[in-house]
Amino acid sequence: MRKDDFSRRLMAENMLSPAHLIQPYFVIEGQAQRVPVPSMPGVERLSIDQLIKDARRVSQAGVPMVVLFPVTDDSEKTHDCRSAWAPGGLAQRAISELKSAIPELGVMTDVALDPYSPHGHDGLMNDAGYIMNDETVEVLVKQALSHAAAGADVVGPSDMMDGRVSAIRSALEADGHQHTKIMSYAAKYASHYYGPFRDAVGAAAALGKSDKTSYQIDPRNSDEAMHEVAADLAEGADMVMVKPGLPYLDVVRRVKSTFAVPTFAYHVSGEYAMLKAACANGWLEEKPVTIETMTSFVRAGCDGILTYCAGDVADWLNE
Ligand code: PBG
Repeated sequence: MRKDDFSRRLMAENMLSPAHLIQPYFVIEGQAQRVPVPSMPGVERLSIDQLIKDARRVSQAGVPMVVLFPVTDDSEKTHDCRSAWAPGGLAQRAISELKSAIPELGVMTDVALDPYSPHGHDGLMNDAGYIMNDETVEVLVKQALSHAAAGADVVGPSDMMDGRVSAIRSALEADGHQHTKIMSYAAKYASHYYGPFRDAVGAAAALGKSDKTSYQIDPRNSDEAMHEVAADLAEGADMVMVKPGLPYLDVVRRVKSTFAVPTFAYHVSGEYAMLKAACANGWLEEKPVTIETMTSFVRAGCDGILTYCAGDVADWLNE
C-alpha cells in the first residue's frame, strides 16, 4: 500500500487544510508600521492598516480566523488595567476596522490583562504579589464585553482564572451578544515556550523573574487539564484550547477523545522560533517540516491550530 502514490493518497487518514489554521497578529499604534520581532523571524508587529492588508491575504488563502494581540505603551499600563476595556483602545479599534474591511474573516481576541498591567501578569495583583481570581474576573468581563461591542466574533480568555467563562457568557447574553463565541484557553500550561511572545508584546521585561505558576497548569499534569476543560465546557465555552501545542499533544488527544468538542491547540511562539531557527540554519527543510508539524496537530485531534505559520502553510497547501 505504501509503494505507490495513488494508494498512499487513498489510505491517508488525516488531511490538513487552510480551514484548520488561525493566524495570530501583534498590533501596534500608527500608520504604515511593520516592526520585526527578533526572536520570531518572519513575524512583524503591524499597525492596523498593515494588519488589514496581511489579514486580507491570509483570508483569501482560506484561513478562517485571525487572533489579535495588542502591544500597548507603558503609559497605558495601570494596576486596575482600565485600558483593557477602553472603547477606543487599540484592540477595540483593530477589531472594528478589521471587521468592516473583511467582514467574512473571523476575528478572535485575547481576554487577559497582561498587555495592560505594569507587572505583565494576566490579572490584578494584591500587595503580596498574588494574582486575585475573583477581582480579575470582573475586569475580564468588561474587557470581553468591549471586544464583543467592537465586533469580535470569538473571545479567547487566556488568563486561567476560575469561573471566568460563566461570568463572560452571562454578561455577553445579558448585553445582546448571544452569537459571540468563547474559545477558552482551557488547558494553558505555565510554559517556558512563551518567551518570544513576551518579547513581542513587551511583557518580558515587566514580568522579570516572576512566573505564572500560581494560575497556569503545571507541565507535569494532565488530569488537571481534563478538569479545567470540563469546567470551562460546563460554564459555556464553545471551543477549548490546549497550549502550548507540540509538547502537549497527549493532552489534545485526551481532550478530544473524552469530550468530543471543537478542540484547538496553540503552536506557540517558542515552538515557532525553534522551527524557524533550525530552518534558517539549513538543518531542517521549512515547507515539508512545517506541514508535517501541522498535520501532527490534526492527527492528535485538533480541529484547528493557532500558528504564526498559518498564512505560509495555507499558501503551500494551495500551491
Ligand atoms: C497571555 C498570553 C500569552 C500567550 C498568549 N496569550 C503569554 C503568557 O501567558 O505569558 C503566548 C502565546 C505564544 O507564546 O505564542 N495572555
